[in-house]
Amino acid sequence: MDTRASYVCSNNVPIPALGFGTWQLSPGNETIRAVSIALEAGYRHIDTAACYENEREVGEAVRTSGIPRAEIFITSKVWNSHRGYENARRAFEASMARLGLDYLDLYLIHWPATARTGSGWQALNSETWRALESVYAEKRVRAIGVSNFLTHHLEPLLANASIKPMVNQLEYHPGLLQKDTKALCRASGIVFEAWAPLGKGKALTHPDIRAIAERLGKTSAQVIIRWCIQNEALPLPKSAHTERIHENYAVFDFELSQADIDAISGLPPFCDSGLHPDRVTF
Ligand SMILES: NC(=O)c1ccc[n+]([C@@H]2O[C@H](COP(=O)([O-])OP(=O)(O)OC[C@H]3O[C@@H](n4cnc5c(N)ncnc54)[C@H](OP(=O)(O)O)[C@@H]3O)[C@@H](O)[C@H]2O)c1
Repeated sequence: MDTRASYVCSNNVPIPALGFGTWQLSPGNETIRAVSIALEAGYRHIDTAACYENEREVGEAVRTSGIPRAEIFITSKVWNSHRGYENARRAFEASMARLGLDYLDLYLIHWPATARTGSGWQALNSETWRALESVYAEKRVRAIGVSNFLTHHLEPLLANASIKPMVNQLEYHPGLLQKDTKALCRASGIVFEAWAPLGKGKALTHPDIRAIAERLGKTSAQVIIRWCIQNEALPLPKSAHTERIHENYAVFDFELSQADIDAISGLPPFCDSGLHPDRVTF
């Protein structure tokens, strides 16, 4: 049984195996409150991004938590409007100023430039990546990575990178297994993180998942989070509600059987966000 085990990046930096998502937590009290509750509940991994517009509040909740900074793993991301070397460097500085922290644990390219962006999309991703490599070399961030990079985005980046991404964060939940990209990440020593692990809440009402949860005396959310962990996809569930924040963290006292894992993994698509990296327009 794994407890609150960590994943380990290719540079040996550990990442707590369950993170707290903060997308759509409003800037201001909602974010401060939710992140504070998450830290009290035991989460030591917080996922934010420049475009969530709540980095300031995430930083404040971390600073006022009383928990040593070194015990909390914080991720942020460079937004699409700041691609390219100089832009991404500036975006990093702006994020750090908002967070009010001395260093960041993980900095990600939020979305790849794609064929839709224009013919130079691969070079643009490499330029953005070069900026992340530079802040990593300067020890401003302990690990760097990407998000929403499918195999055909990741391969050209790997071909040109001096430092390999340590993490790839993708949409992942029952019905969306990202098999090819997950296999490439595994083969390349890249930690695979799952965004929208609960399918934005829509996965929770699936009757097969409910049936497993009822049989085990757990909730659907706990079963899905456990399924992610046992599938080596680091889950980042978000909630604004105290009881759900606690519920989503209470997943280290049980294990799913292989039969239950297989049943969930076999579900057809039913709750995708529709945010496919090649089709998003932001
Ligand atoms: N890299 C990317 O491009 C990207 C994209 C999307 C998300 N993310 C990251 O991944 C995190 C998670 O994704 P997400 O927020 O989109 O979706 P999610 O975590 O799958 O689902 C969040 C939704 O589920 C509800 N919920 C959470 N726990 C619940 C429970 N125990 N029972 C019932 N409902 C529950 C929440 O409602 P309440 O809040 O009302 O409780 C919210 O509506 C984000 O917050 C963000 O940090 C990254």
